[in-house]
Amino acid sequence: MLINTYSATSVGIDAVIVTVEVHATPGYDFTLVGLPDAAVKESHDRILSAILVSGIRQPQRQYTINMSPADLKKEGAAFDLTLAIGQLAATEQVQSRLLSEFLILGELSLDGHLRPVHGCLPIALAAKNNGFRGVILPAENANEAAVVDGIEVYGFECLTDVIGFLNGTQPAEPTHVDVDQLLSTYAFPSDIDFAEVRGQQEVRRAIEIAAAGGHNIIMIGPPGAGKSMMAKRIPTILPAMTLSEALETTKIYSVSGKLRKTVQQRINPTSHGDSGLTSHSDSGLTSLIVQRPFRSPHHTITDVTLVGGGNPQPGEVSLAHNGVLFLDELAEFKRTALEVLRQPLEDGHITVARNKLSVDYPAHFMLVAAMNPCPCGHYGDLKHPCTCTPAQRHRYMSRISGPLLDRIDIQCHIDAVGYDDLRQKADGEPSAAIRERVRKARAIQTERFRGTNIHCNAQMTPSMVRQYCQPDAQAEQHLRAAMELYGLSARAYDRILKVARTIADLDAATHPDQPLTNILTTSQLLQAIQFRQLDRADWGE
Ligand SMILES: Nc1ncnc2c1ncn2[C@@H]1O[C@H](COP(=O)(O)OP(=O)(O)OP(=O)(O)O)[C@@H](O)[C@H]1O
Ligand SMILES: [Mg+2]
Repeated sequence: MLINTYSATSVGIDAVIVTVEVHATPGYDFTLVGLPDAAVKESHDRILSAILVSGIRQPQRQYTINMSPADLKKEGAAFDLTLAIGQLAATEQVQSRLLSEFLILGELSLDGHLRPVHGCLPIALAAKNNGFRGVILPAENANEAAVVDGIEVYGFECLTDVIGFLNGTQPAEPTHVDVDQLLSTYAFPSDIDFAEVRGQQEVRRAIEIAAAGGHNIIMIGPPGAGKSMMAKRIPTILPAMTLSEALETTKIYSVSGKLRKTVQQRINPTSHGDSGLTSHSDSGLTSLIVQRPFRSPHHTITDVTLVGGGNPQPGEVSLAHNGVLFLDELAEFKRTALEVLRQPLEDGHITVARNKLSVDYPAHFMLVAAMNPCPCGHYGDLKHPCTCTPAQRHRYMSRISGPLLDRIDIQCHIDAVGYDDLRQKADGEPSAAIRERVRKARAIQTERFRGTNIHCNAQMTPSMVRQYCQPDAQAEQHLRAAMELYGLSARAYDRILKVARTIADLDAATHPDQPLTNILTTSQLLQAIQFRQLDRADWGE
């Protein structure tokens, strides 16, 4: 008897439907074709054991199994359940009427239990896009797949439960996850807030502008000034993720097998690893990344871990998709690692070669960097004199290439926090208040760039800069004077205008009664000029 079952496998962050044809004829043999890897070939033994232990009497047959499309490599143990159900249906142990309606996937343990697999979210989306009624998968993956609406997701503990469902002898309820509730309840981390940051008004303002215009930012300052502390809090002032952003980010974690652990740690930061996951599983908390990611790779990171590659793992740039990539101690990163950042910074995605295939992963993130101003860390610090020579300072800075700096709109100096500020009783302004201004400024930009593929001021093309960033006559004079006084480079010019545009949008967000124009004022430009610290010809002198 010839049976078709269906599954899917992820390619990049999307999934491709795989058809599994099983032909059972008299005899005793097992042939599997269609580019299976070693793990898929080994499935035969796991399936035999699982069927036996489950108490099913499977007649001996000669099975010929073909997995198509033939040119796509089938990897891992996720096809175990598909193959097992196909074989059982080919010998009429399982009814075939539902097999064309569901994608089936899951790893089988020798005792017939279903083990979770990677990439269930893209697979559930593929089920929906290809008109399937739903997916059948391990219970532990059910919430992850159930964030996709319009399909039925059935999670099962073991092989016999799946057989019972397909044969109609064991009823089952589809898993339901309330995505809207997840998005509205858990959009922001509850354990950190900008209110905890004392003083640092200038840097707080710089960060707010960066968040409002989607600008990359670098903070330069001495140890202990609060650079890491503030960077971590940036996701709390960015607008809440939309459903499509959440799904896209979650897909990346889903295919890299990092979903459950990551969601758990964001929701409950005191827990480590996977422990305690089940307490959340009912509400679907382990299923969707609803908070903007914050990734902070160490400076010893390899190029491959940073941008992805090797085996099909997305890199840190993709894990930070729709969130923040924080590079602390920027000058300590290998030069090659910083160079490979250029493509994702420019394009918002990264192409990585995997086996003979090249895979594209999204990588649209806000780059936040921090560094000391010099090897001793105290250049510019009034209380601790710097012990470095100008040559040492220049050498230190030159570790960061011009083209990378070129993509960082806001460069701000941060001083050590003063004692009076630290002792302050009152909290700083809370994240929610800052976020509301950021949200309004972003709304202005969404309107401005409607119908284009630009989303925020940082992404403006040169012609847009000319159109939307027009200094008034007095501001023009100040800009010219500042460029000459500080010896600002040509590349600083466009950056200054873009940042001034964002400052103007923030001003407009707080004064909705005033008409919004393309004109930039002196005050807006002067503020923006302050954010070109590293472009000054006298830096380090
Ligand atoms: N502005 C601040 N308000 C409140 N606490 C602060 C502030 N700045 C620093 N701290 C305290 O100092 C600790 C160290 O700050 P943080 O790690 O952010 O410094 P850093 O600038 O990243 O230093 P390094 O260059 O050594 O990485 C923080 O965890 C916090 O407890
Ligand atoms: Mg730090």
